Amino acid sequence: TQQKTWSQRFESALHPAIARFNASINFDIELVEYDLTGSQAHAKMLAKSGIISQTEAEQLVTGLEQIRQEHHQGKFNPGIEAEDVHFAVERRLVEIVGDVGKKLHTGRSRNDQVGTDTRLYLREQIQVIRSQLREFQTVILDLAEKNIETLIPGYTHLQRAQPLSLAHHLMAYFQMTQRDWERLGDVYQRVNISPLGCGALAGTTFPIDRRYTAELLGFEDIYANSLDGVSDRDFVIEFLAAASLIMVHLSRLSEEIIFWASAEFKFVNLKDSCATGSSIMPQKKNPDVPELVRGKTGRVFGHLQAMLVMMKGLPLAYNKDLQEDKEGLFDGVNTVKACLEAMTILLKEGLEFRSQRLAEAVNEDFSNATDVADYLAAKGIPFREAYNLVGKVVKTSIENGKLLKDLSLTEWQELHPVFAADIYEAISPRQVVAARNSEGGTGFAQIEQALKTARNLLKNT
Ligand code: ARG
Repeated sequence: TQQKTWSQRFESALHPAIARFNASINFDIELVEYDLTGSQAHAKMLAKSGIISQTEAEQLVTGLEQIRQEHHQGKFNPGIEAEDVHFAVERRLVEIVGDVGKKLHTGRSRNDQVGTDTRLYLREQIQVIRSQLREFQTVILDLAEKNIETLIPGYTHLQRAQPLSLAHHLMAYFQMTQRDWERLGDVYQRVNISPLGCGALAGTTFPIDRRYTAELLGFEDIYANSLDGVSDRDFVIEFLAAASLIMVHLSRLSEEIIFWASAEFKFVNLKDSCATGSSIMPQKKNPDVPELVRGKTGRVFGHLQAMLVMMKGLPLAYNKDLQEDKEGLFDGVNTVKACLEAMTILLKEGLEFRSQRLAEAVNEDFSNATDVADYLAAKGIPFREAYNLVGKVVKTSIENGKLLKDLSLTEWQELHPVFAADIYEAISPRQVVAARNSEGGTGFAQIEQALKTARNLLKNT
């Protein structure tokens, strides 16, 4: 077995089980490309600052590039003896370029190195997730534009409340994911700061140029304090918090789709491409996609919680506990990406709204009761009085097995003489929706406006 990079200081070898326990190579190999890029920038900076020669820097950069090729060809597969991706790269570099490879780690520590790698990784992933959010929003918007006139019962307490345009309901998710998109952009700004050059904790004795490596790597700024730079994981926590909110939004939509697809609601049909069957019940068609999204949400919350707890007791600066940031972060990233992809496909081609059934649904309840009260209030009857009158009508109608639209004009006028024939139009589901034309409401004019604004937003960002 190979010697450890640090074995000169030690008398005996590491216990094999402890070597396995300590190693992160199995998962931090995910960072290999970023480790190579970061190391190339560091090598160039060392030459620019006169710490190594230009030729040496070129050898290092070329050697690192060869490792990248090997990685692309699936030929760079360091084992547990490498400990972590940083040692693995350095060791392979020395094999490739010889002794000059041993100069790479001048003025650097794995502590600022791993922070750099993780930030480079997360920066890229945030951009991927943001563009996935944009695709999701596009599909929501397309669907909303097709369903302005489709009405759907609106609920509070999961009890029928007031009917809505389906477009309005869908666009609520557009707004949630818009906040997610913005939030990730905000997190990005704090991910995009370079810890490279903070050294192990205190900086370095070499005349390094931190701003140069930051510039080469596209970082917006550098950490002002080296202790903070090597031990800050706020950016991981912030990302997982933003990711958790994305999952909250996807999970709420999932829950709705799951009950919409049930025989009790029958609001949507799941298409075969996005549903699964049962091993025993031949009639079943199950909404596995939204169920899995709802289920996976807990994983991301768990990673957020794990990071917060990991950080709370850590003294400055680097502690090995920080190695535990990676698996949760990687899994959080992968989970959010997989869920966004699946939900986008589900909305785009995996379900269809049953417009006939939806039209019946908004016709068969008392969700127009508020509009009767509003009708009276608009004619000068104080709202609370109107509300009480309508409460009585609802009660007697339920007793008589009638809906409000079934009442005769005489019955309305017995209740209050201001009722006229236009009450029937006022309580028709379409008019009930159209009338809610206050800013941000479900009224069709408001929706047209909201859809236009959303379309422009997608076009311009
Ligand atoms: N594998 C380590 C990690 O992921 C790299 C940094 C190790 N630094 C150290 N001084 N042990 O955090």
